[in-house]
Amino acid sequence: MSQNIESHQVENRVFPPSSEFSAKAHIGSMEEYERRYRESVADPEAYWADMAGKLHWQQPWNQVLDWSNPPFAKWFVGGRINVCENCVDRHLESRADKTAIIWEGEPGDVRRLSYRELHTAVCRFANALKDQGVASGDRVIIYMPMVPEAAVAMLACARIGAVHSVVFGGFSADSIRDRIQDSGATAVITADGGWRRGSVVPLKDNVDEAIADEPGVKRVIVFRRTEQDISMRDGRDVWWHDAVAGVDDQCPAEGFDSEHPLYILYTSGSTGKPKGILHTSAGYLTGAATTFHDIFDIREDDIYWCTADVGWVTGHSYIVYGPLANGATVLMYEGAPNHPDFGRFWKMVQDHKVTLFYTAPTAIRAFIKAGDQFPEGYDLSSLRLLGSVGEPINPEAWMWYHKVIGGERCPIVDTWWQTETGAILISPLPGATPLKPGTATRPFFGIDAAILDEEGNECGPNEGGRLVIRKPWPSMLRTLWGDDQRFIDTYWNTYENIYVAGDGARTDEDGYFWIVGRLDDVLNVSGHRLGTAEVESALVSHKAVAEAAVVGRPDDIKGQAVVAFVTLKSGIEGDDDLKQELRKHVGKAIGAIAKPDDVVFAAGLPKTRSGKIMRRLLKEISASGTISGDTTTLEDFSVVAALQGGKEE
Ligand code: WTA
Repeated sequence: MSQNIESHQVENRVFPPSSEFSAKAHIGSMEEYERRYRESVADPEAYWADMAGKLHWQQPWNQVLDWSNPPFAKWFVGGRINVCENCVDRHLESRADKTAIIWEGEPGDVRRLSYRELHTAVCRFANALKDQGVASGDRVIIYMPMVPEAAVAMLACARIGAVHSVVFGGFSADSIRDRIQDSGATAVITADGGWRRGSVVPLKDNVDEAIADEPGVKRVIVFRRTEQDISMRDGRDVWWHDAVAGVDDQCPAEGFDSEHPLYILYTSGSTGKPKGILHTSAGYLTGAATTFHDIFDIREDDIYWCTADVGWVTGHSYIVYGPLANGATVLMYEGAPNHPDFGRFWKMVQDHKVTLFYTAPTAIRAFIKAGDQFPEGYDLSSLRLLGSVGEPINPEAWMWYHKVIGGERCPIVDTWWQTETGAILISPLPGATPLKPGTATRPFFGIDAAILDEEGNECGPNEGGRLVIRKPWPSMLRTLWGDDQRFIDTYWNTYENIYVAGDGARTDEDGYFWIVGRLDDVLNVSGHRLGTAEVESALVSHKAVAEAAVVGRPDDIKGQAVVAFVTLKSGIEGDDDLKQELRKHVGKAIGAIAKPDDVVFAAGLPKTRSGKIMRRLLKEISASGTISGDTTTLEDFSVVAALQGGKEE
C-alpha cells in the first residue's frame, strides 16, 4: 500500500498579474521568471554570488560555498561584512532623510525615525553595549515590546558582533530562563513593560523572575515604555536612557567573518525542548535582502507593513534585516490587531498609506470571523500588494483577502518558508506568477525544491510526499545552537544531504507547490493518508465557517476517524443540522473518505503564540478528552479548557 499522501483538492481559479502591475515590477513576466529560475538552479553559486555582490563588503570572499562537510554549509568563505552597516550606514548617502521606521504604539502615539536618526540611535546603543561589557560573540537576549528600540537593539548587536536571541514578549519567565541557559547569554535587553490590549505586559518583572538564579547574566538594560514601578538591581540593571547618556554617536562598523553568528532564534516545534536555530551573517543577509526585493517588489516610495512580532523569524527577516537592507520604509505596530476593535489594522493602513501589507492566515481568519464591516469602514486604496505567511492559507480565506482587503487589485504573495530557512523559499513573484488561491506557487531563484516519496523518488504531479530542498542556500540555518547531532537528526537523516522541511506537499500540473500540512499531523483513514490542509480548507469554504482544524482519532475499523474542530463566523450558532451539512460539504468537495466522523463546534482553536493551530493538542483531546502534553507554547489556555469541558461523546 502506498505510504504517500493523497490529494483530492482541485482549485481552478487563476489570477494572472495585471498588466499594469507587471509593467512596473522587478520581474515582469513568467518567461523571465522561468529563464532566471532555470539559470539560477543550474548554477546556484553563480546566482547567489551575484546577489551577495549587491551588499557592501569590507573584504570580498574567495569561495562562494564550502559544502565539503554537509550538512554544515559555509557561504562566502573568507569575506568580511557588517550586517548593520548594510542595513543602516549604506543608506546615509542617498536616503539619510528617508523614513526608515514609522512606529505606532497601541495607545496611538506615533514616532518616525529617518535613516540618519536610526544610524545615530544604533551607534549610540552599540557604544552603550560595549560600555556595559558586551563583546563580539557574546549572546544577548532581547525581550522587548514592539518599539523601534527592539530593532535598534538587534542592529546594535549586529554592529558589534554580539549574537542576539530575541524572545517574544508574550513568553513567560520560564521560557526566558530556558533560552538564557541554552544560549549562555550574559546580557538581557528589555523594557519596563509593553502595551497589549490596553494593559501592561510586565516585561521587566518576568526578566527578574527568569534570572533570579542565573548569575551568568551580568547586565540587564531596561528601556522605559510603560512607566510603571519596577525594581532595578544595583550593579546589574541599568536604564537604556542612562546607558546611552554621554556616549559617542559614532561607532565604527567592524567587518566580521561571513559565517560570524548573527542570531539564535528558538523555535518550539511540536515536541521537545526548543531548538536554537543559528543564522550567520553574509548568507542570511543575502537571502533576506534578495527575497524582500523581488517578492515584495519594493520601490523607493513604498510604505511596507509586516504585522509579525520581531520575536518571530518573520520579524527578523521581513521587519528588520530584509527591508532595511533595501532602504525601505517600515511600519511597526506595538499592539493587538483588535484594539480597540477589529478595525485597528485597517485604520493604520489608511492613516499611514500602507502600500505593501504582510500578515498571517490566522489574522485573516480572525478578521473574517469578526465581519466585513471593519475593513469596509476604511480607505484601503493605498495597498498595492498583500502577503501571507505562517500556515497554508485556505482558498476561501485567500479570496476574502483578495476581495475585501485587496479590492481585487493587489497580487497576494503566499510565502512559504521557516525559521530554519531564514528567508522565503517558495512564493509567487507578484508581477510574473499567475496566482491560485491556496498555493505558494513556485520556488524562488536558486532554490531547488522538490517533493520526494519514502524511497527518495521525485513524486509526479498531484502525488503527495515530503517537501525537500536539494541544494544548500545562503540563508539556511547552520546548526542548532550547541547540538549538531539534533540538527542532523531533525533535518538531514531521511535522504543523503537533502534538507527535509517536515511539511507534506504536492505539486500540481503547473509545478505549483501546495502544502498539505505538517507531516506529524497527517491523517491515516482506512489506509489513505490525508493532509490536514485540504479537509480544513473544504470546511472553511462553507459560508458559516471561519476556521477549522482536523485531526485523527484512533478508530478500530478505519485506523483513524476524522474529527473536525470548527469555529463559526460571528452570529452563527452550531447545531446538528449544520454538522450534517458540513459533513456533506466536505464529502462533496473532497470525497467520502475525508468526511468528518465528528464535528465539534469550538469558540476558539488552540494556537501557538505565533498563530499556528496546535493540532497535537486537539488530537489528544479527541483521543482521551484531556491534555497531558507540553502546553508551554499555547497562546490561550482557556480555549483548551473549554474544549476539554465540552468534549462530545
Ligand atoms: C508553515 C514561519 C503553508 C509550514 C516563516 C512551515 C506555511 C512552518 C507557509 C514554518 C505558507 C509557513 N504556506 N505553510 N505560506 N508559511 N508555513 O518556523 O508548515 O514559524 O514548515 O516560520 O509554517 O513556521 P515558522
